[in-house]
Amino acid sequence: MINIPKGTKDALPSESYKWQYLEGKLRRVASLYNVREIRTPVFEHTELFVRSIGDGTDVVSKEMYSFEDKGGRSITLKPEGTAPVARSFIENSLDALSLPLKMYYITPCFRYERPQAGRLREFHQFGIEFYGATSPYLDLDCISLAYDALKELGLKNVVLRLNSIGCPECRKTYTEALKAYFANHLDVMCGTCKERYERNPLRLLDCKSPICKNIGAGAPKITDYLCDDCKNHHDVLCGLLKDNDIPYVIDENIVRGLDYYTRTVFEFVTNELGAQGTVCGGGRYDNLVSSIGGKQTGCVGFAMGLERLLMLMEEQGVDFCPTNPKVFVMSQSSTYAGTCMKIVSELRRNGISADTEMTGKSLKAQFKYADKINAEYGVVIGGSEIETNTVKVKHLSSSSETECALDELTDFLKNN
Ligand code: HAM
Repeated sequence: MINIPKGTKDALPSESYKWQYLEGKLRRVASLYNVREIRTPVFEHTELFVRSIGDGTDVVSKEMYSFEDKGGRSITLKPEGTAPVARSFIENSLDALSLPLKMYYITPCFRYERPQAGRLREFHQFGIEFYGATSPYLDLDCISLAYDALKELGLKNVVLRLNSIGCPECRKTYTEALKAYFANHLDVMCGTCKERYERNPLRLLDCKSPICKNIGAGAPKITDYLCDDCKNHHDVLCGLLKDNDIPYVIDENIVRGLDYYTRTVFEFVTNELGAQGTVCGGGRYDNLVSSIGGKQTGCVGFAMGLERLLMLMEEQGVDFCPTNPKVFVMSQSSTYAGTCMKIVSELRRNGISADTEMTGKSLKAQFKYADKINAEYGVVIGGSEIETNTVKVKHLSSSSETECALDELTDFLKNN
C-alpha cells in the first residue's frame, strides 16, 4: 500500500462538510468587507519567495518545496500566499484599478516543517491582502475583518496580540540595540538563536526555549525605538481599535517569521491548541511590492491556518451544520429500482437532495444505510405504493410516519 506523505491530510467525505462550512463563512465575511477573491498558481519561480520572504527566514532557508522543472527553472510550491498576490498585482497592473484593492484567497501552502498537531507540510490558508493605502484605517479594516471572521466562526478565547516593528530605518537602530543586548547572553542560548543572531536578530525574540525566552524578556523593546511616523501610525491604530471595540494586547515579542513586514504586525492566538496556538498572523508590508519590481504600495494583510481553525472549532464544540440528504428512497425489491431512480431524479430537479438504492441491498440494510447517511426521511417504494399512488414518508430520527400521495412527494418534502 502507498501511504499519504508525512505532514499531509485527506479531507474525507465524512469530514469535508466542516471545510465547506468554514470556507463558506470566511467567504461570506470577506464579501461583507467588499473583498474579492484572487487565485494564483500553486507554484511560482523560487526567486519570488527568496526576494520577498527573505533568505534569512526559516521558511526560505529550510522549509521550501523547491525543484527544478523539466525546463531547468527553479520552481517552488507556495509556502504562503502574500508574495504570489504581490507578483500578480504587479504583473497584471492591478494598481491601475481604483485603490484600495481588497483581495482574499483560500489556498494550499507547503512548508517542509516537522509535523505535529496543527503543523503540517501541506496546510491551507485563508488570506487577506489590502493594497493601496498607508493609512492606519486600512490596518483597522484588515484586523477588524479577522476579528469578525473569528467571531462568525463561533470561536472564543482568541486574543489579538499587536506590535509595530517599525520601518527599515528605525528597525536598523533597534536591531543594533538587540544584538548588543543578546551578545552578552549568546553562549547560553540555543543553537537556533545563535544562528538567528547573525541571520535574523528580530527572531531572537520569538524563541520558545525557556532559557532564551527568559533572556528575551530583558531585551530592549521595539516601541522605544520607533521613529515619529511609525510611532504615530501605531498610536493611531491602537486608538482606532479601542474606538471600534476590538480588544488587543501589545506584545513586543510579535516579530513574525517573514521579512517583508513594516510597522504593524499582529497575531490572533489561543492557548487551547498547545504549541501551535497562532490561528492568524499578519501585518503591514509597504515595501514588498517595490522590492519585487513594482511601485511603492501601502499594503496590509493576514492569513489564517484553516487546519488550526478547524481544530479549535472542534475543541470548542462549534456546530458545523452538516448538510445531509433530505430523503432516501428505498426499493421493496429490485423490480422497483427503475421507479426509485425516476422519483429521485424528479426530487433532485426540484432542489431536494435525494438518493436511492443501487446495490441490491435488503430493505433492512437500506434502512440502515439511510440512517448512516443521516437522511432525514425514508420512503419505501413497492407494488402497492405504485398501485395506490400513496407512500409513507418516515421521519427517520423520530420514526413518525406521514402518508402522502406519491405524485405529491416533492411538495411534501419541500414543505417539511
Ligand atoms: P504565517 O504566520 O507564516 O504568515 O502563516 C499564517 C498562518 O498560517 C499561521 O498563523 C498558521 O495559522 C498557519 N500556518 C503556518 N504554517 C503552518 C503549518 N506548517 N501548518 C499549519 N498551519 C500553518 C503568512 O503566511 C503570511 N503570508 C500572512 C500574511 C498575509 N501577512 C500579510 N498578508
